[in-house]
Amino acid sequence: MEFNTKILCIGAGYVGGPTMTVIADKCPDVKVTVVDINQARIDAWNSDNLPIFEPGLDEVVKRARGRNLFFSTDIPNAVREADIIFVSVNTPTKTFGRGAGKASDLQYWEKTAREILEVATNDKIIVEKSTLPVRTAAAMERILNSNDKGLHFEVLSNPEFLAEGTAIKDLFEPDRVLIGSHQTKSGFAALQKVVDIYAHWVPKDRILTTNLWSSELTKLTANAFLAQRISSINSISALCEKTGADVDEVAFVMGKDHRIGSKFLKASIGFGGSCFKKDILNLVYLCGYYGLPEVAAYWESVVKINEWQTHRVISSMLEHMFNTIAGKKIAVFGFAFKANTGDTRESPANLVVRDLLAEHAHPVVTDPKAIHDAKRDLADVLSQVEFEEDPYKAAEGAHAVVVCTEWKCFAELDWKRIYKGMAKPAFVYDGRNILDAAALREIGFDVANVGKGKAE
Ligand code: NAD
Ligand code: UDX
Repeated sequence: MEFNTKILCIGAGYVGGPTMTVIADKCPDVKVTVVDINQARIDAWNSDNLPIFEPGLDEVVKRARGRNLFFSTDIPNAVREADIIFVSVNTPTKTFGRGAGKASDLQYWEKTAREILEVATNDKIIVEKSTLPVRTAAAMERILNSNDKGLHFEVLSNPEFLAEGTAIKDLFEPDRVLIGSHQTKSGFAALQKVVDIYAHWVPKDRILTTNLWSSELTKLTANAFLAQRISSINSISALCEKTGADVDEVAFVMGKDHRIGSKFLKASIGFGGSCFKKDILNLVYLCGYYGLPEVAAYWESVVKINEWQTHRVISSMLEHMFNTIAGKKIAVFGFAFKANTGDTRESPANLVVRDLLAEHAHPVVTDPKAIHDAKRDLADVLSQVEFEEDPYKAAEGAHAVVVCTEWKCFAELDWKRIYKGMAKPAFVYDGRNILDAAALREIGFDVANVGKGKAE
């Protein structure tokens, strides 16, 4: 079949895979190829066992794969034939040299630009899909356009706002799609081509266009604001515990004010995921770089409160468990950074397990989707941690259960049965406030949760 447009996406991860699958599904006239250097990942995208778990993804892949959606490791050929190249490679926090621990590690990004340049034989539109420091497009353009082949590369920014666990829904019905371009004739022409792709299914008033730098910075800022709301409510959760206020009640009533809104006010053991911490630290680095230390300190506090909040789990456990958990079996319910994903990147559960080990406890981790990745993340302490698919078995003989992920299936367990099998007194720390604390207390559990003080 002849296709009107040929799109390539470099990077077949949590963003590249689902976004391109949805573009292919919604634009049958567009050929979409997704490439990666990771052969195993591409093999999985071409199999019935997709490399990531995302509700609804399997069906959409099945509809489009082989029709106008292709997964491959043949990067040079795919680059040569593409009109528009989305770059969705990972941009982790730098772990070495200047800016280590904060700045974005752009080595994969720059490598991709050079690979494109090496094999390209015609002009192309390059779209930043990864989350990048503001002004990365300037560097990208310098690398790409300083070629002696007479080729022109127009760089656009099209950050992705999907959240894991709801990626397909977010992509089908986005709040907005953002595309940034240079405010030039060639910039606007390139922009229009990418707008035309999204216009296949996204209402026109939700496709927002800005200049390049606004687009790059909006993505970092949106994540920083979302994370800031969680840190704000989590900081208040500590005050609730001291005063007898109930953080869920406070958040509910506050959220009724339209100016505040109800979303992202769920107190928890802390936010996780591959984006929030990385993107805020990147923002902090940028503020420092541009000579704005006060702004940097403001945003860094969001990350600091988050880590403090996760460490508070052990403090509460010690308080409830006679100041010692050494030698005690502790069931950790959930290792994914949120429900409905198998992703464990920056999961607060990782920190909880390490805090348990520091207290010489014996953690047993259970999770419906994330045991594989949990083993990878805990590789350095693997001999000290047990993994158990069945939550009932994980809790058998345990002194405490710590709920780290808000999986619905944990709320649906037979807690009487769990209580029977546990050592007494049996303690539950509900780090997501998903369990019925009153019902658990009725059964006999000692219960602590986030932001709920004694109400007398
Ligand atoms: P990921 O690690 O899941 O996927 C990145 C993929 O890029 C990997 O499979 C890797 O092998 C591949 N890759 C790296 N260098 C390559 C190269 N030179 N050529 C070909 N492939 C290469 O990462 P992700 O979660 O998909 O995130 C990608 C970007 O999107 C990041 O910048 C992230 O901040 C951003 N983002 C992520 C999310 C999310 O929910 N995960 C949401 C919005 C934005
Ligand atoms: C986030 C952004 O939401 C998304 O727009 C961006 O594209 C990528 O980063 P993601 O990290 O996948 O998405 O999930 P999100 O739903 O934002 O949750 C992040 C973390 O915050 C999770 O650990 C979640 O459990 C936690 N969280 C979320 C809370 O603790 N309380 C809340 O009210 C909301």
